[in-house]
Amino acid sequence: MTALLELDGVTKRFGRVVIAENLSFSVGAGDTVGIVGPNGAGKTSLFGLISGDLAPGAGEIRFSGRTVTRLDAASRCRLGIGRTYQVPRPFADMTVFENVLVAAQQGGGLRRRASYAAAAEALERTGLGGEANVAAARLGLLQRKRLEIARAVATRPALLLLDEVAGGLTDPEVTVLVEIVRGINAEGTAVIWIEHVVRALTALVTRLICLSGGQFVGDGDPAGVLANPKVREVYLGSEVTASVVEAALEQEPSGQPGREPDPERSTS
Ligand SMILES: Nc1ncnc2c1ncn2[C@@H]1O[C@H](COP(=O)(O)OP(=O)(O)OP(=O)(O)O)[C@@H](O)[C@H]1O
Ligand SMILES: [Mg+2]
Repeated sequence: MTALLELDGVTKRFGRVVIAENLSFSVGAGDTVGIVGPNGAGKTSLFGLISGDLAPGAGEIRFSGRTVTRLDAASRCRLGIGRTYQVPRPFADMTVFENVLVAAQQGGGLRRRASYAAAAEALERTGLGGEANVAAARLGLLQRKRLEIARAVATRPALLLLDEVAGGLTDPEVTVLVEIVRGINAEGTAVIWIEHVVRALTALVTRLICLSGGQFVGDGDPAGVLANPKVREVYLGSEVTASVVEAALEQEPSGQPGREPDPERSTS
């Protein structure tokens, strides 16, 4: 079966800074993949390469069996690659519903009737139905995170790229967010989730990648990757402390709902 997303020898440099060094990997339909790594590792840039916001210097990117390497971001979004941004920029004066509708129409390329359905569905899935008519500027942090995910979901993605959506949330809020993403994934959407809040990832993903200096220093089952000495070394000195990794390792295996929230608040 064809993979949903395939990167083949993707390389990107900004001057002498290596952003992606000959990266090759694939993600299947409905997969859940977490990405961790220190600041400046190239995580957000990797999303840029996948979503079309950044052009690779070399290599090929395929999505649903089609080469998209030279397609722009709007075209890739229409093909089914949806993403959130590390620094969200919702239209502050517009309502929650209007924000999501614009995403469905402009990002997803959906026509009027389909766009309204997609927008309503996105609000439902992210638990924002009650805030549909609230101005985006009035939302609290968790609601803003919901909106950022809703805007990506409204484009009807087959692959959802989440860039640090759990940052700054309390532990119970992180649990809420994980359950939202779990619900989206349960409907068949593959998820690649960049996060410094490691416990959010270990609660959901079946595969974890650790990126450093534009290269994978770990890729596999989350517990194995977090226990990998090279991964631990990369974390030292970064804002993800060893204790956060330890706390994540002490959790139950991924994909098990109903856990008590971790009393330790994660750094992000
Ligand atoms: N447009 C750009 N021009 C030049 N350098 C850039 C550009 N975008 C990112 N960089 C550099 O590329 C490197 C990787 O940045 P990136 O944002 O991908 O890291 P990250 O892993 O997402 O980090 P963080 O955890 O802080 O979000 C950094 O050194 C950054 O300064
Ligand atoms: Mg980033």
